[in-house]
Amino acid sequence: MRMTAAVLEQFGEPLVITDVDLDEPKAGEVLVRLVACGVCHTDLYTASGVDPSGYAPTVLGHEGAGVVEAVGPAVESLKVGDHVVTLFSPQCRECEHCLSGQTNLCLAIRAQQNLGYLPDGTTRLSRDGEPIRHFMGTSTFAEYTVMPEIALAKVNPEAPLEAACLFACGLSTGLGAAMYTAGVRRGATCVVFGAGMVGLGAVAGCRLQGAGRIICVDLSPDRLELAVGQGATDTWLAGPEIVERILAETRGFGADYTFEATGRVDVMRQAVESARMGWGLCTVAGVAGKGETLDVIPRWLIQGRRIAGSSFGGLRGRDQVPELVNRYLAGEIDVEPFISHRLSLRDVNRAFELMEAQDGIRSVISFA
Ligand SMILES: NC(=O)c1ccc[n+]([C@@H]2O[C@H](COP(=O)([O-])OP(=O)(O)OC[C@H]3O[C@@H](n4cnc5c(N)ncnc54)[C@H](O)[C@@H]3O)[C@@H](O)[C@H]2O)c1
Ligand SMILES: [Zn+2]
Ligand SMILES: [Zn+2]
Repeated sequence: MRMTAAVLEQFGEPLVITDVDLDEPKAGEVLVRLVACGVCHTDLYTASGVDPSGYAPTVLGHEGAGVVEAVGPAVESLKVGDHVVTLFSPQCRECEHCLSGQTNLCLAIRAQQNLGYLPDGTTRLSRDGEPIRHFMGTSTFAEYTVMPEIALAKVNPEAPLEAACLFACGLSTGLGAAMYTAGVRRGATCVVFGAGMVGLGAVAGCRLQGAGRIICVDLSPDRLELAVGQGATDTWLAGPEIVERILAETRGFGADYTFEATGRVDVMRQAVESARMGWGLCTVAGVAGKGETLDVIPRWLIQGRRIAGSSFGGLRGRDQVPELVNRYLAGEIDVEPFISHRLSLRDVNRAFELMEAQDGIRSVISFA
């Protein structure tokens, strides 16, 4: 079929809104009509050309939610009309990692996905017969996408899809960092560095886990205000003295759990150093720039502090995205404050500008 998509033609240039061709789903694949899609830093990062693993031309976008329009042969878990959230991190339930119960990093389609292909090594996207590669296995800046069944989470159809789409990346990453990677304990003291989509999600995750004190640290007073709405008990402006302040307020020990959601390695170090001696766990969710390293004094680890990395919040997407969406429907997660702008696909470059200006938390593309 022919459809409109936002194509990354040249790195560093605006996306081009144009018509492309989309082939039918093959075995194990599903055709999804997008209804909403968030615009995330990773899209901008790739569009800028800074990401060394990026490729073009490609259709960007990975925070999608929509409705199943057709299924290919051998698809068993989805049918036409189902509401789905796209997963850049699939869950096959069969590979060594999925069966281990110890990680959400499914191995099933990684190699081809990283290269921009669907699992069989080809693309469904093309233009004038020339293939266009799929981005993160999702390519949701488009009216439709074809994706593997194992990379779609079936969600409650009562959930508005413009809210559900945020669970495709940033919000789940933050929630999951607190709920699944760290597994915050009831009554714990938590510090969240960064109050963007990921950090605010982590604040909400700490609250859902029953944390006793949730300190959120950011440079922006406006964003700290949003953190209060998500359950932060304390909001502090960021600065070099923040570690001392955390130690001072925890009888010199540090926080039970710290979370880094800024992508800055100096902040990651603060998050390690402000974790409690004995058992403090620092969870790193931010993505640092290429070549940057985290500087940690080994003594901090000997003293019982631990560091964990968290990809997509440790979520097994097909199992846990639907659970989180249900908790949103139950009123436990307040998504509305995150949706700062609603735009059409034609305005996707405007969404990048808003992001660069740090105007709001998320722009959501509506395909209505
Ligand atoms: N691990 C994953 O799977 C995953 C998924 C999505 C995003 N991410 C990464 O998570 C990070 C956060 O994403 P986001 O969408 O929330 O980004 P964002 O840019 O909206 O938020 C980052 C926040 O950090 C704050 N900040 C900057 N310097 C600070 C400092 N010194 N101390 C405290 N706060 C500071 C900024 O003011 C901003 O509010 C990014 O690095 C992103 O690439 C990771
Ligand atoms: Zn993202
Ligand atoms: Zn797997």
